[in-house]
Amino acid sequence: MTNTILVTGGAGYIGSHTTVALLEAGYDVVVVDNFSNSERWIPDRIQALAGRNFRCIELDLCDAPALTRCMAEVRPEGVIHFGALKSVGESFSQPLRYYQNNIVGTLNLLQAMNAVGCQQLVFSSSATVYGIPDHCPIPEDASLRAINPYGRSKLMMEEAINDIAHAVDGFRAAILRYFNPAGAHPSGRLGELPRGAPNNLVPFVAQVAAGLRPEVKVFGSDYATSDGTGVRDYIHVMDLASAHVNALRHLAGSTQTVTLNLGTGRGYSVLEIIQAFGRACGHPVPYRLDARRPGDADACYADPARAEALLHWRAERDLEQICADAWRWQQHLSA
Ligand code: NAD
Ligand code: WQD
Repeated sequence: MTNTILVTGGAGYIGSHTTVALLEAGYDVVVVDNFSNSERWIPDRIQALAGRNFRCIELDLCDAPALTRCMAEVRPEGVIHFGALKSVGESFSQPLRYYQNNIVGTLNLLQAMNAVGCQQLVFSSSATVYGIPDHCPIPEDASLRAINPYGRSKLMMEEAINDIAHAVDGFRAAILRYFNPAGAHPSGRLGELPRGAPNNLVPFVAQVAAGLRPEVKVFGSDYATSDGTGVRDYIHVMDLASAHVNALRHLAGSTQTVTLNLGTGRGYSVLEIIQAFGRACGHPVPYRLDARRPGDADACYADPARAEALLHWRAERDLEQICADAWRWQQHLSA
């Protein structure tokens, strides 16, 4: 075994920021990505920001023979598995594609890890596995009821990973349930690259602030929240990246599989986000109150106590930093 970490989906939004953090922490990294939702120039940008070289292999996780060959050659100490499709709406219209990519890709990865005796996995899961939560803040043992095909693909893979951890001596995983990742690298040179209209609130607000879209449609203003708009737990992508480094350190010294919420523990409403973004960009962001979006909860925010205790980590960056960094990145994209 080497000191190498294999990062699937390492050219994507969270994967690229995490790869920078891993390189800065001294890990050797090999990224595998099929660039289905990322750009081929991202690895060069990661290298420039981290000031260190790493290998990037263009590979589809659904290509089992190629993945097995790659794993046998790299022989990583651990794997961080970001590579998946992530749009809730698209998962309703293309369920087969989502199940194929997210389930077959993950099973192939687990198989390839098993073949070379790689026993440490960090898995990207999502708060979407809680569906509409009964209470907030949400602890990890809250009811699981994924309400869309994307969420079901994540839940099924959580279960598969737990089953394998029970059966295979030495194999352990950190299953990380992200709440609402947002923001960008503080350099303004790395961030989220939405294709077409962004599904998520913060990149949409950023495009409106930049004048690329006329207004933000606020999906619902009659929720049981302080101002009637949906409340979510927005976590800075740099805080997520550092949590992955800590998760690897934790796994290296542990025999247990853990499931951890990654959030800040505090929620902000849609209107609070729009106002905070207005402060970051220096002018009000236009919006219009609109109908609810089907499947949305009133409020969804984490109880992050378990991650804080086990990983010796907490989210440090606040909403102002999320908006300032997202705005810097949006200006870079618009330039
Ligand atoms: P992203 O789309 O920016 O990155 C995913 C990367 O994986 C992309 O570079 C894509 O090209 C690659 N990929 C997808 N399928 C692949 C395959 N079969 N083979 C190889 N590469 C493949 O997404 P992200 O926002 O960085 O999300 C990373 C992970 O975190 C995903 O698993 C996602 O489900 C999960 N997650 C994301 C969010 C969010 O809001 N961004 C929230 C919770 C969980
Ligand atoms: C946030 C709030 C919307 C857009 C999604 C996935 C989840 C995870 C994170 C992958 C809600 C409101 C949004 C807009 C709006 N991803 N909104 N106008 O739905 O909490 O979570 O991303 O795992 O699985 O479901 O995030 O950014 O879409 O919405 O008013 O144009 O903003 O109603 O209250 P969500 P979001």
